[in-house]
Amino acid sequence: MEQQQITAWNVKGAVVNGVVQAIDYEKILVQFGSQLLTPRLIERFEKLTGRKAHHYMRRGIFYSHRDFDKILDLYEQGKKFYLYTGRGPSSKSLHAGHMIPFIFCQYLQEAFDVPIVIQMTDDEKFLVNNMTMQEGALCLKNNVKDIIACGFDLKKTFIFSNFRYYSGLLPNILKVNKRLTVNDSNKAFGFSELDCIGKFGFPAVQMVPCFSDSFPHIFGASSSVPCLIPCAIDQDVYFRLLRRVVAPQLKYKKPSLLHSKFFPALQGAQTKMSASVSSSSIFCDDSMEVIEKKIMEGAQCENVDTSDDTKVTNNVVFTYLTFYMEDDQMLDKIKADYSAKLISKMELKKILVTVLQEFFLNFQQKRKTVTDELVEQFMTVREMKFD
Ligand code: TYM
Repeated sequence: MEQQQITAWNVKGAVVNGVVQAIDYEKILVQFGSQLLTPRLIERFEKLTGRKAHHYMRRGIFYSHRDFDKILDLYEQGKKFYLYTGRGPSSKSLHAGHMIPFIFCQYLQEAFDVPIVIQMTDDEKFLVNNMTMQEGALCLKNNVKDIIACGFDLKKTFIFSNFRYYSGLLPNILKVNKRLTVNDSNKAFGFSELDCIGKFGFPAVQMVPCFSDSFPHIFGASSSVPCLIPCAIDQDVYFRLLRRVVAPQLKYKKPSLLHSKFFPALQGAQTKMSASVSSSSIFCDDSMEVIEKKIMEGAQCENVDTSDDTKVTNNVVFTYLTFYMEDDQMLDKIKADYSAKLISKMELKKILVTVLQEFFLNFQQKRKTVTDELVEQFMTVREMKFD
């Protein structure tokens, strides 16, 4: 038996008798020491914000957290905080899995009425993925357009690339790097002596945007504005290490987190959809024909044993519907009909094709309205109202 691997750069289910298993999310929760996002917390969120919980929350897609209750306390007391998330631009378009944290952050930005900072780790992709800087720059601009098309509010959103904003982060990067040992980093990230030195320096770069004094144009000199980071659970490692080792030493506030499960690869729930394996992915710029072909010919869709509910959810086609079909009643009916074999595999796939085509057609139309000038506005260091 080989244990499942959930690292910042690799996600793979456990291997039992040579067969790769679906990701075990409960196990991650225990291993990482995060908390379950309970129905009680979700209810409290709804009461405080007056918003219906996003279907990612209702359906356990965002399923884990660290100190989300503290964020709700702050909100209740009328105190401010900010959101932070990011993207490593490694493909010219985001894929259907990358969209999840950004769709969710846009929803949270509206629900809480708070600023968000979005880090584009073009440096990471140069160091880790062997991309040239020119390739990275092209991906960066296209990815920023995709992110803007998710509907972020220009007045409250700062998108920054590490190449461009590095000097703003540098004082905090140095403070973090002075406290992080090679030993701690190796344990957390699994670095080896053969890895390039650049990789060892990177984690601090992803950590410091959760210190508010990295953004004086938004928060002034304050180093104590709390931060909430929504992301898939693969990115938790940076913030786990920061919370445990760095923040207490520097006397900075620990960031809160909301973690999602992975949007699986087309081939199965054993791994996440990944831009570096393009056959595993549906990209936001795929044509409607390509989406149809990928789902109809490539998506894993096991026949279902009606007595075993987990098999429905380990079915990639059905899982995709839980991410992208908003209507709860319709989803429940499809699940019941599919389990009762009233809907065939091909019919289920066709339903998914329609849902995805509608979503991505709409997205592509919004994306067309995002100009180079707008990208520049989102990425310009500018004062933002924060009180
Ligand atoms: P990246 O570019 O690999 O992924 C961007 C965001 O998408 C999430 N994600 C997924 N979510 C659901 N299903 C999937 N299949 C899937 N694949 C990726 C990631 O968890 C991430 O939230 N180093 C980071 C960029 C980064 C960042 C951050 C991410 C910088 N600062 C702060 C989160 C929070 C990266 O390369 O992400």
